[in-house]
Amino acid sequence: MKLGKLETRELIDDSAMNESYKTLRTNLLYTSDLKVISLTSTVANEGKTTTAYYLAKSYAELGKKVLLMDCDLRKGSLKKFFTVKTRVSGISEYVSGQSKDFIYQTDVDGLFVVLSGKKPPNPTELLSNSSFEKMLEALKEEFDLIIIDTPPMGIGADATIIGRNVDGVLMVVRNNFVSKKSVKKVKDDLVRTGSKVIGVVLNRIEKHQSDYYDYYGYY
Ligand SMILES: Nc1ncnc2c1ncn2[C@@H]1O[C@H](COP(=O)(O)OP(=O)(O)OP(=O)(O)O)[C@@H](O)[C@H]1O
Ligand SMILES: [Mg+2]
Repeated sequence: MKLGKLETRELIDDSAMNESYKTLRTNLLYTSDLKVISLTSTVANEGKTTTAYYLAKSYAELGKKVLLMDCDLRKGSLKKFFTVKTRVSGISEYVSGQSKDFIYQTDVDGLFVVLSGKKPPNPTELLSNSSFEKMLEALKEEFDLIIIDTPPMGIGADATIIGRNVDGVLMVVRNNFVSKKSVKKVKDDLVRTGSKVIGVVLNRIEKHQSDYYDYYGYY
């Protein structure tokens, strides 16, 4: 069952940004059979949540029914993109059986959102729970596309666990922020643990370097 409507709240007002995500979306559309995508990064603050939000919105604008999920149960930062006035139920409440209603509509047609909910004492365990997997299976029936925000790879096993339960993982890499070696290691770790890395989004490129965003597909 759907709960109330959340209003979107964009933090960076930049049409170039929206345009760049359309390009990313177009590139991804050529990657076949992607129904569930997760985003991760090497360290914190590389732009996962921002990328997840704009990418989901841009698919919704294409007429798809999109679910944007905050599976960063430790931090739960997707809510910063929405005006949330009351306490909301999220993944923690659903997976732990406290609430059955956790999907919110948004003011963007076709864009639905699931927030992380109350920070659980054991995020990794919660995500390893079979009811998390079952939840994803059920949601797949209802949505054209599911985009999942996760913590960085360096923090617990959360992103690894989610990565192997989805169709493809997008790595967000902030420009001039982490060494190539670390990024390569994280990519290798993802592949080794059973994830399919579908691409790397290079975030925060200076305007003169190119556009804001670039996309390099691995496959
Ligand atoms: N392309 C961009 N241009 C300008 N600012 C950006 C861009 N992408 C992200 N930011 C800013 O960088 C900060 C980190 O972004 P975001 O929260 O999306 O990263 P994250 O990888 O999800 O971080 P965390 O690991 O803490 O979850 C935010 O303040 C966000 O507004
Ligand atoms: Mg984040």
